[in-house]
Amino acid sequence: MIALAADHGGYALKEEVKQWLDSQKIAYKDFGTHSTDSVDYADMAVLACDAVVSGECEKALLFCGTGIGISMAANKVRGIRAACCSDYFSAKYTRLHNDANVLCMGGRVVGAGLAIELVDIFLHTEFEGGRHQRRIEKIAQLENR
Ligand code: RB5
Repeated sequence: MIALAADHGGYALKEEVKQWLDSQKIAYKDFGTHSTDSVDYADMAVLACDAVVSGECEKALLFCGTGIGISMAANKVRGIRAACCSDYFSAKYTRLHNDANVLCMGGRVVGAGLAIELVDIFLHTEFEGGRHQRRIEKIAQLENR
């Protein structure tokens, strides 16, 4: 199960990605927002991120205008490793090397075609582990300072 959330700036892109997830028969839970009415991205990020941390959802896809604000909020949630991506290489390597569990994208930055490519590689790339495991453990240690 994939968690989805967006603010008003990411709402339209979330809806486009949902259509692709439907076509791929990938199950998701949409935590909103459900219109272009203004909402605060931190309020939306926490809903999807809590679902990842609890284990209800395996990963989350988050959307705001730039992808940046919602990624900043997501990374404040203990256990979340969120990556804001607008290129294919980053979306792939944040899975391989960072074991990112949240992909953030900007609805005012990337078009639907690119966003779908980013989601596809993000959802279908496994973490490499090895030396990268130690590094993500050090990220987790920062949560305890
Ligand atoms: C909302 O206007 C906008 O600031 C938000 O979607 C996002 O781009 C923030 O990082």
